[in-house]
Amino acid sequence: MMHHKTLSVMAIKKSFYIAFYFILATFWLPAAGQSTHFKHGVVVSAHPEASAIGLEILKAGGNAIDAAVAVQFALSVVYPNAGNIGGGGFLVYRPAHGTPVTLDYREKAPARASSDMFLDPAGIPITQLSLDGALAAGVPGSVDGMVQAHKRYGNLSWRQVLEPAIQLAKIGFRITEKQANELNHFQERFIALNPGGSPLTRQVPWKKGDTLRQEALAHTISLIQDKGRNGFYVGETAQKIVATMQQAKGIISLEDLKNYHAQWRKPVIGTYRGYKVISMPPPSSGGAALIALLKSVEAYALSRWGFQQDSTVRLIVEAERRVYADRATHLGDPDFVKVPLNQLLDSAYNAGRLAGFSFEKASPSSTISAGAIAPVEKEQTTHFSIVDKDGNAVSITTTLNGSYGSGLFVAGAGFLLNNEMDDFSVKPGSPNMYGLVGGTANAIEPGKRMLSSMTPTILEKEGKLYLVVGTPGGSTIITSVFQTILNVIDFGQPIQEAVSAPRFHHQWLPDEVMTEKGAIAADVRKKLQASGYVIKERGSIGRVDAILVLKDGILQGGADPRGDDKASGY
Ligand code: GLY
Repeated sequence: MMHHKTLSVMAIKKSFYIAFYFILATFWLPAAGQSTHFKHGVVVSAHPEASAIGLEILKAGGNAIDAAVAVQFALSVVYPNAGNIGGGGFLVYRPAHGTPVTLDYREKAPARASSDMFLDPAGIPITQLSLDGALAAGVPGSVDGMVQAHKRYGNLSWRQVLEPAIQLAKIGFRITEKQANELNHFQERFIALNPGGSPLTRQVPWKKGDTLRQEALAHTISLIQDKGRNGFYVGETAQKIVATMQQAKGIISLEDLKNYHAQWRKPVIGTYRGYKVISMPPPSSGGAALIALLKSVEAYALSRWGFQQDSTVRLIVEAERRVYADRATHLGDPDFVKVPLNQLLDSAYNAGRLAGFSFEKASPSSTISAGAIAPVEKEQTTHFSIVDKDGNAVSITTTLNGSYGSGLFVAGAGFLLNNEMDDFSVKPGSPNMYGLVGGTANAIEPGKRMLSSMTPTILEKEGKLYLVVGTPGGSTIITSVFQTILNVIDFGQPIQEAVSAPRFHHQWLPDEVMTEKGAIAADVRKKLQASGYVIKERGSIGRVDAILVLKDGILQGGADPRGDDKASGY
């Protein structure tokens, strides 16, 4: 799999990267949320340094997949809340020529996992067990995902695309103010879960501009650079993972690691107002739910009603209520359960779901039939979108699940393990607090992938690349991607406006419309409340990173100002 360069070329490259990152680390702190237009290629990610690395790879002749691999590893260094090598993700790839594909590198339950592993003897869930520490971790998929994506589509050498992340971890980078605040917020958790210390723990509080160096992580990524998947799933790194498991009472074994393989899957495909929507199939619920939402509203005159006007908000909320009522019932890992995708994507079925809807009053969620309630999902994931000079496009959402995942570092290897096991139905088959039965399709089974909401998506217009989009946000991912698409297609917003626009969210239960500050004007809110809608303001919803292709082929990058996100292109 490895392509090898001569030593002298590598040495020159290495000195270039060292100089490049020294300059970045010394002088550059990011400006977030810029709208930008580019001719050749663009990378939009959650961190300016990761976007810069993706851009350098594109400029060095790399294609969208080369840049994506470089960005995935760079985010594991500069954005440890969600960027990862100890987690998993989903990739949607639309080559300029050829058939779109998706790659499922979602984590798997270890072989020793069982459906009742997070229940006490009385059958009550022990919440902390699926959130913190070793038992919460699924078998990581990111490294095999990147190896497979690169092997099939990469153009530059594996060595070259991993080098920037290694240098960034070694030399360090300046943390942003948001990062300093987050690191300080999580100090107690890091200390409690890592008695031997962690790369993110320190005596004095972190502050903006501090340099974060991660030698152990640099070493681990170097092993992956040298040995490919064997640098992670067997040998030194695998042994360190298992040693951490033994010390912290986890169950991931050497066999689990050796047996992990990412899976190529056919995308889910639908249409919306003539645009082709290409998205992630199960084990993510995201693509199917997104297409169901689009199909639900397609017959209505959203563009005439206007952005976040009374009828628009009512329709969107009622569509979201119904699709969320459906989504958890039937969805799970397609390698384990039969998923009735055709029915869930059917236009007539989705239009029929809105048949009884009235513009006069809210339909209480208690009157909308459905089965299972999805587990409460963590919102700290990350998304990046990339288009290269040839028009190849990649949309990746990757995660550790909660912020900094399980909080547990692999001792001596410098990376965090995910807490993705919490995305399974921890207590399937039993009535939950709403009296409804939890999703048996998403019950824990050895080797199974947990259901996700991640929705990396690509749209085509008249057979040509049009939009690359996705976001973190747990259960709000699907509505954020949905509303961003409506902002572009129905309300004609430029991509930065579409990404920045305040969002709202309904997920059937709890029966309330969650809004960001500034979403839904006061007069519209009043009318909605008078019709029975409960409206609750909350913190930010999603962090969308997207690319729109304009008529003349210019690439417009939209980086979400809710974070440190950045569009870098040329
Ligand atoms: N862990 C978040 C998701 O997969 O949707």
